[in-house]
Amino acid sequence: MSKQLADLKLALKSLGKEYAKLKTLPAAEKKSFGEKLNAKKSALLEEIRRETERAVSENLEPLDLSAPFAENAEKPTFPRGTIHPLSAELDLVAEIWKDMGFSVIESVQLDDEFNMFDALNFPQNHPARDSYDTFRTEEGFIPPAHTSTMQYRALTRFRPDLEEKGEIAVVIPGRVFRNEDLDATHEHTFYQCEGIFVSKTANLGQLLAVWKNFFETYYGQELNIKTQPGFFPFTEPSLEFQIEKPASLGGKGDGWLEMGGCGMIHPNVLKTAGIDPEVYRGFAWGGGIDRLVMLKYGINDVRYFESGKLDFLKEF
Ligand code: DAH
Repeated sequence: MSKQLADLKLALKSLGKEYAKLKTLPAAEKKSFGEKLNAKKSALLEEIRRETERAVSENLEPLDLSAPFAENAEKPTFPRGTIHPLSAELDLVAEIWKDMGFSVIESVQLDDEFNMFDALNFPQNHPARDSYDTFRTEEGFIPPAHTSTMQYRALTRFRPDLEEKGEIAVVIPGRVFRNEDLDATHEHTFYQCEGIFVSKTANLGQLLAVWKNFFETYYGQELNIKTQPGFFPFTEPSLEFQIEKPASLGGKGDGWLEMGGCGMIHPNVLKTAGIDPEVYRGFAWGGGIDRLVMLKYGINDVRYFESGKLDFLKEF
């Protein structure tokens, strides 16, 4: 920054003190003093604008738009940023799946009726379409309410793998959105990870082993798992997947934690994606990432993640 510009900015800053003084003046003097200050301020702002323009046009001042603000450019005092805990954990989750032989693709952040419902075997006008509390844009697009909206895309994109490798193995981490009332365990914006496996012999036993292995790797310990019957239009049978709360996750070793839904991919979902359900079978699963991370670090309010609270973010 040119010396002149720096001086002008300094002068503007010191006006702040004079404004503070204004409050202490007797009423009679306030008006004229205030007007003087305002005039000074406008003049300074105008000069700063002109000086900045001049510097840029004369190319004295190459604009570094990425430069953080620092009062003393020689000795910057701004705080250092850190990687957001969810970004770091999403990378870790992707690495674990990659090590297990899965491809990782990105999800979309704006989706449509076809991928959200039709391709996932939700019957037309079925109440299950309402159970996802979807947002909608004025144009009728849907911010995805779960990463399952990526199933059709992933199945069609990786379909050639069935011929070449005999299987599709892909996971899709992504950001999802639901029109929900917010509390310590509910956010309108959160993260999930979807998984899909298709082969001629895919079965429920493999599904449970694969997902168990993921959780054990993520938490670095052996875990007991159990399932309960569930309902999703895109799987048959459908299951809710639980892990036993281990002491190292802050629990007392008792209780079960619901980690997501899973099941054998419904034949209609395979058929829509151009895969013959008479030849191939698949399983799929999807679970929340925020909850996974909260359990790992003992975070008790999901809203911290999107809050921008520096005190919270600095802990990671
Ligand atoms: N998408 C479901 C949800 O958010 C979870 C889920 C259930 C994903 C079954 C799956 C699945 O892939 O097969 O509630």
